[in-house]
Amino acid sequence: MSSLRNHYAGKKVVLTGHTGFKGSWMSEWLLNLGADVVGISLEPQDNPSFFEQLNLRDRTEHHIQDIRDSVKLAEIVKVAQPDIVFHLAAQPLVRYSYDHPVETFDTNVMGTVHLLDALRTLENPCEAVIITTDKCYENKEVDRPYDEEDPMGGYDPYSASKGACELVVSSYRRSFFHPDDYGKSHQISLASARAGNVIGGGDWALDRIVPDCMRTLAEGKPIPVRNPVATRPWQHVLEPLGGYLVLGMKLADHPGSNVWKEVCSGFNFGPDPESNRSVKELVEQILTCWSGAWEDQSDPNAVHEAGLLNLSIQKADRLLNWQPVWQFDSAINQTVTWYKRASEDADPRELTVSQIVEYMELFDR
Ligand SMILES: NC(=O)c1ccc[n+]([C@@H]2O[C@H](COP(=O)([O-])OP(=O)(O)OC[C@H]3O[C@@H](n4cnc5c(N)ncnc54)[C@H](O)[C@@H]3O)[C@@H](O)[C@H]2O)c1
Repeated sequence: MSSLRNHYAGKKVVLTGHTGFKGSWMSEWLLNLGADVVGISLEPQDNPSFFEQLNLRDRTEHHIQDIRDSVKLAEIVKVAQPDIVFHLAAQPLVRYSYDHPVETFDTNVMGTVHLLDALRTLENPCEAVIITTDKCYENKEVDRPYDEEDPMGGYDPYSASKGACELVVSSYRRSFFHPDDYGKSHQISLASARAGNVIGGGDWALDRIVPDCMRTLAEGKPIPVRNPVATRPWQHVLEPLGGYLVLGMKLADHPGSNVWKEVCSGFNFGPDPESNRSVKELVEQILTCWSGAWEDQSDPNAVHEAGLLNLSIQKADRLLNWQPVWQFDSAINQTVTWYKRASEDADPRELTVSQIVEYMELFDR
């Protein structure tokens, strides 16, 4: 039995954001490992919805609950008494955050506060992994990888909200869930996870480069590219999700030990440096798998979007033995294959499960 299956089988997992893109992949992976998933989210927004395509409404304990409501959120967590919590729910879009800054801070910062506060009422040991983003770092646009000791920051409201979310996690860990006090005043093991843009089948959101590419290719139109020179650490969605799962597992490993204390902290889950590519390179690789064209639609008046940003993943390697599995080309090929086969009427759930199983064979050694 794989180590992940061994750990997660039969565990009660509270997963916020389970109706979203990453949350739907995470739900499917956790169910595949034999976990009981208690989802807390808003109704799925996308059309088509990946969540509905995977029929997750019937396969999880499904709660439609706004995390801005602290009382109702706490009630669900208290009744669930989870073994593990993965917090993915967020307003995750940069451009939307410029139009809706209050909603973005409210959801991303106070939503996280509400969840962490709900954990204070738990009676049993619980591991919690809070998902932020590579954008939580103060982006100085320097040509070196950011490591976990770099300061938090954020230019746009989304990035700043995630930087603030990291500060909230750090504060709760020091004030209420201090590793030195484990087993005395609390039984919570708390870490955060920072990953960059992810790609993968089933993302139907608007205003994201890969879904936009897939939609325009399916319509036989050239792909409009807003920011071709922007460089991002591209990775398949299964890469950070695998990191979150390993982190959740390590948080339960010998609580109180020195290694465990180091694990109660923030982790980067980025791709190998060779996957730090421009949007232009991303689009050109997509076009090797699904023929079509792209056109430069750079807008000189566009709102500020961060440029170069990549992550050091040495800490995840050292403490979690986590390394990326699918390089840039594999990540794109798997993604485009998913959309192409789905457009040819393949069952989205079968496509998704087969990619999870293929990935796990390489990942969960
Ligand atoms: N997709 C990426 O490339 C990427 C990159 C870095 C970090 N992240 C982070 O990963 C997480 C998941 O992102 P995603 O791409 O799946 O986003 P998504 O928009 O597909 O899903 C967001 C989820 O959060 C839920 N949610 C939003 N507001 C809520 C609220 N007020 N109450 C309860 N639930 C709420 C939604 O219902 C949905 O389930 C987010 O925290 C995001 O910041 C994503």
